[in-house]
Amino acid sequence: MSVYKIRFGTPEAFVPSRFAPAPRVPVAEGMPDCLAGISFSAGARGVKITLSLAEDVSLYGFGLQLKSFRQNGKKKTIRPNADPKSDSGDSHAPVPFLVTTAGFGLYVDTARYCDFYCNLTAKPAVKPKDAAERMDMNDMIGGNAGNLLVVEIPYASGVDLYCITGERILDIVSQYNLLSGGGCMPPLWGLGNFYRCDMTFRDEQILGLAKQFRELHIPCDIIGLEPGWQTHAYSCSYRWDPQRFPNPAETVAELKKDGFHVNLWEHAFTHPTAEKYEELLPCAGEHLVWQGLVPDLSLEEAQKIFTEMQQPLIDMGIDGFKLDECDGSDFTGGWTFPNSDTFPSGMDGEQYHSLFGLLYAKTMEKALGNTRTLSQVRNMGALAASYPFVLYSDLYGHREFLTGLVNAGFAGLLWSPEVRHAENAEDLLRRIQSVIFSPQALVNAFYLPNHPWVQHDCVEGARELFRLRMSLLPYLYTAFYDYKTTGKPPVRALVCDYQNEKEAHDCSTQWLFGDSLIVAPLIYPEKERDVWLPPGEWYDFFTGERMEGGTHHVVTDGIPVYVKGGTLLPFAQPVEYLLPDTRFEITLRAYGDCKAAVCRLVEDDGETHSASYRLLEVTTERYETDSFRYRVAGVEQY
Ligand code: GAL
Repeated sequence: MSVYKIRFGTPEAFVPSRFAPAPRVPVAEGMPDCLAGISFSAGARGVKITLSLAEDVSLYGFGLQLKSFRQNGKKKTIRPNADPKSDSGDSHAPVPFLVTTAGFGLYVDTARYCDFYCNLTAKPAVKPKDAAERMDMNDMIGGNAGNLLVVEIPYASGVDLYCITGERILDIVSQYNLLSGGGCMPPLWGLGNFYRCDMTFRDEQILGLAKQFRELHIPCDIIGLEPGWQTHAYSCSYRWDPQRFPNPAETVAELKKDGFHVNLWEHAFTHPTAEKYEELLPCAGEHLVWQGLVPDLSLEEAQKIFTEMQQPLIDMGIDGFKLDECDGSDFTGGWTFPNSDTFPSGMDGEQYHSLFGLLYAKTMEKALGNTRTLSQVRNMGALAASYPFVLYSDLYGHREFLTGLVNAGFAGLLWSPEVRHAENAEDLLRRIQSVIFSPQALVNAFYLPNHPWVQHDCVEGARELFRLRMSLLPYLYTAFYDYKTTGKPPVRALVCDYQNEKEAHDCSTQWLFGDSLIVAPLIYPEKERDVWLPPGEWYDFFTGERMEGGTHHVVTDGIPVYVKGGTLLPFAQPVEYLLPDTRFEITLRAYGDCKAAVCRLVEDDGETHSASYRLLEVTTERYETDSFRYRVAGVEQY
């Protein structure tokens, strides 16, 4: 496993690596053998990279792609956009990074809207002799199916290309995440259930809704407030609306007293009534969006002023933000700034579009100081693994949301298939089944006045699922610790770990949740599906039934989840919310022969950056520990 940097010409000044944390892997200069035959050229149209790939290589990546999984035969444009409705590459979080099953991945360090052609065929030197005489009607119009990869980077006259080698895609992605500074480490509470309230709600309604969670005994850790908390939201004043929230400090304190963390919606377009508007003026781009300034958050001065505006909120106890609207609006109606704009740092609008979400997230993380968060952002880009911000969308296709989930894991991104409205109880429960097995268990009820499970009369079903999420928190938290220290994504496509199995190559409707669980959800109105399990021994998570690798047909109202044989899974008594001193009661679920199995559990203060981590290794023989976070109560054999 190695990371190589290959420099061609003179790269541009504003590239993602300039703003990324220090890499946590050594980076070698020079050309690895796997790129023999690569060519670079530069001209008036920018830089072009051409590489020939072997025929049977599968390609994945390009960030948060919602429309396709295996990228062979596609042309993808890496251009940030809100709500892209086609498979063009446009995305809330496109990333110029692809991984292959040929033992390497390629990261192009650019903030340009670059194009990847994954399908070209070079012109032959002479007329081919063996061209088919006649074409089958069924094949009349096909895509390109060549094996040349061509990357075009407009405007640039040089570029750094990173080649990351590794036996499995998992190794390649992990190295990429370490190149990005390592994966983020959320606070423990950040992995609990998260509910965003109706955007028109005032203080009493928010408190009432929060109270209902406790009355219904549905676990919830985070309450999110949508635009209505501000006096002016498009663009943002960052000031509490005195009519809806006459005493915000008290409202926040009351929520905190009940064990909730509070997250506020905002975006960076700054309204003239915002406290620091005047100071921010010289640090903003040329044009306004929704009458608000576009602060150049690559500048320390802008970061400082912007942070000062957020400080009263943070001092009040807000420990999370939803950073909206920082993607582009080519498909959503024109609220944007031109690509040709000049920003005070010297960046142009195109580059700023590519870096906006990342710089915004970086600014807000800094503003939170020593407090860890798991927040939200609607745009991210390259080298972003270290930022504790989860992506989301206004699109709502359940299938697309799951495609996003598996793809995000190839590119150091976190994504939540958030739950909003549903057609009926079955649809709602199907969506909750998916979201609890994602990095962030988010219900975004920003246009729903009631708890959706109350509306659809399925409180019990919803409660059971949210409790299941809480039971798996110690397991998920440890997976995030691995993300931070080794770069291994906590949620990922099966092909990352099982690329030698052909079935894994197109397996986009299942994913690994941590190292040991495979999740294979159903989408309403489905009642049955095929599930593919890699070779070896697996166990049904709910029934304990032993299964062999291969394809299985499943009929269920529940969510199919399977545990790898030989796993010692920590299963916690669900708590309704986390406190700094929460101690989990753990049962070790032993699946198959676990004599040699080790259950890893990480503990720390669960909430600050200065926390020191301790990794506990528990076995079936030795599980009494002096941990303050976990009490292992016993072993259950499956
Ligand atoms: C959208 C966002 C939604 C919600 C809404 C409120 O931009 O994606 O999740 O926050 O704004 O106006």
